[in-house]
Amino acid sequence: MHASALLLSAIAGGALAISLPWSQQPIVNSRPYAVQTPPLDTNWTYQVGTKPWPQYPRPKLARSEWKSLNGVWMYASASGKGDLSIPPFNQTLPQEVLVPFCLESGLSGIQGENTIYSWYRTTFTVPSKWTGDRVLLNFGAVDYEATVFINGRTATFHRGGYTAFSLDVTDYLNDGENELIVFAFDPTDMDPYVVPTGKQTLHASHIFYRPCSGIWQSVWIESAPSNHISELSIDATASGQVNLTVNASDGKDSSVKVSVYERGSKKVIASHKGAAGSPILFKVKSPKTWSPDSPNLYDFEVKMGKDEVSSYTGFRTVTKQAVNGVQRIILNGDMIFPFGTLDQGYWPDGIYTAPTYEAMTYDIKVLKQLGYNMLRKHVKVEPPLYYAAADELGILIMQDMPCLRPSRGPNEEQQAEFERQLQVIVEQFKGYTSIFSWALYNEGWGQITQSYNPEFALTDIVHKLDPTRLVNAVSGWHDHGAGEFSDNHHYTSPQCGTPFHDNAPFDPERIGFQGEFGGTGHNVSAEHLWKVKRAIDGIGETYEMYHTLDEWNLRSRYILNELRLQVELYSCAGGVWTQTTDVEGELNGMLTYDRRILRTDVEQWKKDIQALYDAAAIRSKVSSKEDSSLKVDL
Ligand SMILES: *[C@@H]1O[C@H](CO)[C@@H](O)[C@H](O)[C@H]1NC(C)=O
Ligand SMILES: *[C@@H]1O[C@H](CO)[C@@H](O)[C@H](O)[C@H]1NC(C)=O
Ligand SMILES: *[C@@H]1O[C@H](CO)[C@@H](O)[C@H](O)[C@H]1NC(C)=O
Ligand SMILES: *[C@@H]1O[C@H](CO)[C@@H](O)[C@H](O)[C@H]1NC(C)=O
Ligand SMILES: *[C@@H]1O[C@H](CO)[C@@H](O)[C@H](O)[C@H]1NC(C)=O
Repeated sequence: MHASALLLSAIAGGALAISLPWSQQPIVNSRPYAVQTPPLDTNWTYQVGTKPWPQYPRPKLARSEWKSLNGVWMYASASGKGDLSIPPFNQTLPQEVLVPFCLESGLSGIQGENTIYSWYRTTFTVPSKWTGDRVLLNFGAVDYEATVFINGRTATFHRGGYTAFSLDVTDYLNDGENELIVFAFDPTDMDPYVVPTGKQTLHASHIFYRPCSGIWQSVWIESAPSNHISELSIDATASGQVNLTVNASDGKDSSVKVSVYERGSKKVIASHKGAAGSPILFKVKSPKTWSPDSPNLYDFEVKMGKDEVSSYTGFRTVTKQAVNGVQRIILNGDMIFPFGTLDQGYWPDGIYTAPTYEAMTYDIKVLKQLGYNMLRKHVKVEPPLYYAAADELGILIMQDMPCLRPSRGPNEEQQAEFERQLQVIVEQFKGYTSIFSWALYNEGWGQITQSYNPEFALTDIVHKLDPTRLVNAVSGWHDHGAGEFSDNHHYTSPQCGTPFHDNAPFDPERIGFQGEFGGTGHNVSAEHLWKVKRAIDGIGETYEMYHTLDEWNLRSRYILNELRLQVELYSCAGGVWTQTTDVEGELNGMLTYDRRILRTDVEQWKKDIQALYDAAAIRSKVSSKEDSSLKVDL
């Protein structure tokens, strides 16, 4: 033990005898929180303040008695997992950090690199009116592993950077102030780890980006009775059939009462009684269905004993069906041509966490304005509020599973963990109406192909967990016939449901889909660039760089029209243009990374996107071979 640590334990009144690796002297004050200037900011960066994300974080299972723990916490980097044996109980840590912004972000106030091992510390009190009830502690997401200590005791451990976890902490609490400490471990793609990372890498370059470590979604406490609703999921079909599953924290079949309201109305339009632990099935008479054009939602109130939570759903049915010889995606009985962008969900100031709710929904609103009815959430999972906003605003989502570190195949144990996390993600997010499809693999990243093809079994597992959606087993490259999609990626020109695919041939039994295309690039003036040398040096790797917006719009128009021809002449049933925004050195967004420039000629894109929907509608009525009225009109 160091002399300084002895001194520290003496100061702490002998309560502790620990040696803090990062401290030679006891720390009296943490370095105060301040936004660190990110390589690029947004209009929202300096509006965040120190009480970020005040919205209730879990709209599908919402309680009225809650308290946000977001805000300024203390932070220290740790030297390894060995430090878990010496948590900094009752210590002042050297820096302050803004939760929930990951450690690499400017908004966190740390903007660290290689933040693999980290300590977070805060204190909280429980509102006195909660006395007698249980206190639940909730984390939206911590990348990648979290060990949680409350008042000196280990309370829980969680693995998986994209999923929420909750625990009943009542038995750990004191009257008055409570100490909450989190140890976060995030290897990203450090050797020898192979874990779900999506596009995060410790060696950012071109299409792989700066990582996000630690707490990146809201942390909050809430009050609930001792037997409370621990899980809740709603399926609701276009015909009004509701399938509600409720789980009770005591694991018993407590009785449940559900009431359904039209959004914004206090009038109960349906109610039903059932029990926790088994599906509760009932019908709502002729509901207004949900679609991107009419995103009607219904609010639910669910009571179980003394617990009362609110939730909501949209009524919709998604299937695959041949229409006039072409396999189509059918929404509420009608053919729909989902057309969206590849959507990475990155922010220059918050990395994985949008600076504010307004910023987060801005992206979706811009896509809607251009006429997109879909987005493909690319190898990232967003916070629940994002999906709730998509449900409200009306945009379909193809949800990717975050891929394992792309450059390395997983071993058996790593594959098993990937599969476990996939199932948790499907369970946690299947309640969101806007998600119409799950995508399991992208372009072979982390996909085992040598010994066997795991996508077949995974497709079955996902269908069992969530029978209401389609599965895009393999988006791009190594397609062996699993799932409902025959998804080809091709840059810049599309090859969608055509006889001339460069990659796996098109399979007419499945939905012909262009999971990625376009990606035309446009350089912008330095003020809109992510000012990191490696990123700027890599700008030229973007497909087809154009130097004026007129050229960029014209070339994009040409490519969109190629897709339209494939819709008219072949079996193209949906597509994904790369991408919503620039990210770091990848300059191909509708919007620049700072969201300050919208590159698109809005009226032109709206027309060209509408032409895709029109082409699909015509193709669904008559076979192109028979219809001489179809003109090639470029
Ligand atoms: C950002 O702020 C500028 C200047 O006030 C404004 O013109 C622009 O519309 C804003 N952009 C966004 C995305 O809010
Ligand atoms: C932290 O300090 C409080 C107040 O002095 C004390 O009650 C508590 O036991 C200490 N925690 C640990 C883990 O030593
Ligand atoms: C209701 O949902 C559960 C859980 O997703 C599922 O197992 C069950 O098959 C569904 N029942 C009906 C009738 O859809
Ligand atoms: C929750 O309840 C459903 C049935 O409603 C059941 O299938 C599932 O296993 C339960 N989950 C847990 C964690 O108990
Ligand atoms: C893009 O523009 C930046 C300055 O705005 C410049 O430094 C860079 O070389 C340009 N890259 C390409 C590929 O045009």
